[in-house]
Amino acid sequence: MSSTIRSLLDILTSNVNVLEQTCTSNGTHIPDLQAPFHPTSEDFRTDPRAAEASSLIVAAAHQLAAILTPPPVSLEHFKSAALRVCLESNVTEILREAGTKGAHVEDIARLNGQDPRKLGQFLRILALHHIYREITPEVFTNTRISSMLDTLKPSQEVQADPEHKHDNTPGLAALASHHLDEAFKASAYAWEACSEPSTAHSGAPTASAFAKAVGDGETLWQYYSKPQQRFREIRFGIGMKGIDALQPPDAVLKAYNWKDLPSGSLVVDVGGGIGSVAQNIAKSFPELYFVIQDLLGPIEDGKKWWSKNMPEALSTGRICLEAHDFFTPQSQKNAAVFMIKQILHDWSDEYCVKILLNLRQAATPSTVLLILESIMPYACHDPAGDEENSIIGAVPNEAPAPLLANYGAMNEMGYLSDIDMCLLFNSQERTIHHFDRLLRSTGWKLTIVNRQPGDSTYMQSMEAVPF
Ligand SMILES: C[S@@+](CC[C@H](N)C(=O)[O-])C[C@H]1O[C@@H](n2cnc3c(N)ncnc32)[C@H](O)[C@@H]1O
Repeated sequence: MSSTIRSLLDILTSNVNVLEQTCTSNGTHIPDLQAPFHPTSEDFRTDPRAAEASSLIVAAAHQLAAILTPPPVSLEHFKSAALRVCLESNVTEILREAGTKGAHVEDIARLNGQDPRKLGQFLRILALHHIYREITPEVFTNTRISSMLDTLKPSQEVQADPEHKHDNTPGLAALASHHLDEAFKASAYAWEACSEPSTAHSGAPTASAFAKAVGDGETLWQYYSKPQQRFREIRFGIGMKGIDALQPPDAVLKAYNWKDLPSGSLVVDVGGGIGSVAQNIAKSFPELYFVIQDLLGPIEDGKKWWSKNMPEALSTGRICLEAHDFFTPQSQKNAAVFMIKQILHDWSDEYCVKILLNLRQAATPSTVLLILESIMPYACHDPAGDEENSIIGAVPNEAPAPLLANYGAMNEMGYLSDIDMCLLFNSQERTIHHFDRLLRSTGWKLTIVNRQPGDSTYMQSMEAVPF
């Protein structure tokens, strides 16, 4: 019988062959770690064979590393501190401008005002993880990974005006900055939140690790509403756009059969932020009407954003932005679709029940509830997939043994988001069985799971109908 590491090597060899052959035959390329990230560098994943082969390669490589790396190294967490310093001190922008010859740490420090000794320490650990590259001693360049921290603005501009660093950017740097700030600070209080009797078993956002970290029991939304946190509130909104940039551009269009809705149908995007997701649908399906609901702050920002980006949709009334608290009764009683994207994961079950009941009470018999969220797979085989009459798409593709059924670290994004939700909101990402229970308890029946190919944990869509 072959050893586990030999089986993993076989998976690596056979799938590297598949990946190379697929890329050669369809003219796509395997990404270059030394080249900056660009959406086209992900084109190879659009072929399902290449996507599956690369998932298996990553899963097998991580499993090999987990077997052979000394265990204490796997438990380190200091990388995040180094990442935050480099992101906030604009190292990536400076290295972009330095080009392929790179920049010496003394020169980087001269431009961003950091202490060169400390900056060198942070860059060194990140270079160890291929996040930056040390090309000659103490001279660094960007890699595909560090380029994700790039606002794409001139370094002098972001250095001079850090408050507006993320304005009008694609959002990936804003997302990382939010994670390394609010979520990273909350991380330090995870144990306090999980051990103190007043918070240990609570599902309230006021009892989260974040609420402990900021000191006065505030939720993230209360924190953002303070004038001195306006920068962070804006950065969070831009970061949400960054999440969308990580999805295939047509993900929300494929999430539901929008074309089957009768002309004039109303889509209510509940907790829709400024409405950037609804805009994607509105552009492709001009016969649909939209109400975008959120708290007053995002709605006011949204009105400005739509007046700039699609003013005619506002003036004709095809798009309406409405301040609405989803814990209060829903005023829209004629929705063809209630869409809730990345809302339930912000709340523990007791709060989700209230949100879902308010929607159920406003639903017509034909209203569809469309939920866009990560769906957490199991690291082991899910026997529900073996049952006849299981919900279409409920159980994801599973990786072959000896790999973890969930493709291991290849699918880490969903698990990171799960912990992020726990730390920030005392909430979570959910398994399909958890969604099913939650929906049934509020009068909704889960009917279809539309899975995006190539990644079983990121954002998937679920349809539910009243029963
Ligand atoms: C994670 S964001 C998702 C935004 C949007 N659906 C998207 O996917 O881009 C959660 C949204 O819920 C909104 N929100 C939080 N509490 C709310 C409440 N009580 N009523 C309505 N919206 C709320 C926030 O302002 C934020 O825009």
